[in-house]
Amino acid sequence: MKPSSVLLVFLQLCCFQTMLVSRPTCKLSGWVVQNTHNLLRDLGEPFPVQCRQYNSKILFPDSALSDVSANHRQCRWTSLVVYESLRGAELMFTENELPEGEDELTWNKQKLDNYLNLQNRLVEDHQCLNTTEASGVLAPYFSNVTAVVEQQDSASCGWEALRRDVLWVLKFTLRKHHSCFNWTKAH
Ligand SMILES: *[C@@H]1O[C@H](CO)[C@@H](O)[C@H](O)[C@H]1NC(C)=O
Ligand SMILES: *[C@@H]1O[C@H](CO)[C@@H](O)[C@H](O)[C@H]1NC(C)=O
Ligand SMILES: *[C@@H]1O[C@H](CO)[C@@H](O)[C@H](O)[C@H]1NC(C)=O
Repeated sequence: MKPSSVLLVFLQLCCFQTMLVSRPTCKLSGWVVQNTHNLLRDLGEPFPVQCRQYNSKILFPDSALSDVSANHRQCRWTSLVVYESLRGAELMFTENELPEGEDELTWNKQKLDNYLNLQNRLVEDHQCLNTTEASGVLAPYFSNVTAVVEQQDSASCGWEALRRDVLWVLKFTLRKHHSCFNWTKAH
């Protein structure tokens, strides 16, 4: 071998290893997701009866979690659906005002703030996940729930539905796919 090709092989070996070591696995922290779930659960009452009339307009695709995309393994897909649900919710909170006055949500403001902080942290810290596919699966849901939130008379029900559905995703995955999350605590 010529010296230059030896150097090339050496460079490839060295850099491939560095890549393996530094490449983030992008698993979601189980503890952070669990806290996020608890805050969302505790920030208000269960889904209000008067909001049930919107159930036919806001159908979270439950099958998104059971029908694993052929392109991904179970844990990868679970992370993608959880991440995309949080990212979609994050977008809704940034782009829409919460209803005020008579229609104001009876949510605990402190818990909501804490929830939004954790949601933002999870979204910001996991941009290494490629969400193209999961985003396609959830897009019709987010478009419908956004439409309900944008109507003044149904806004608070839209937010309640969003909270119910994100809570369900977190609860279901923490229980059924517990080992897909990273349970190692940061030091
Ligand atoms: C969105 O709304 C349409 C019209 O109400 C409904 O037919 C469809 O099932 C809804 N889809 C989702 C995912 O909520
Ligand atoms: C993300 O995934 C989509 C579809 O699975 C693919 O077309 C795209 O190239 C991927 N993007 C990156 C940056 O890997
Ligand atoms: C799990 O989380 C710990 C603490 O934040 C981190 O050091 C570790 O790299 C993570 N492991 C995986 C597989 O993501």
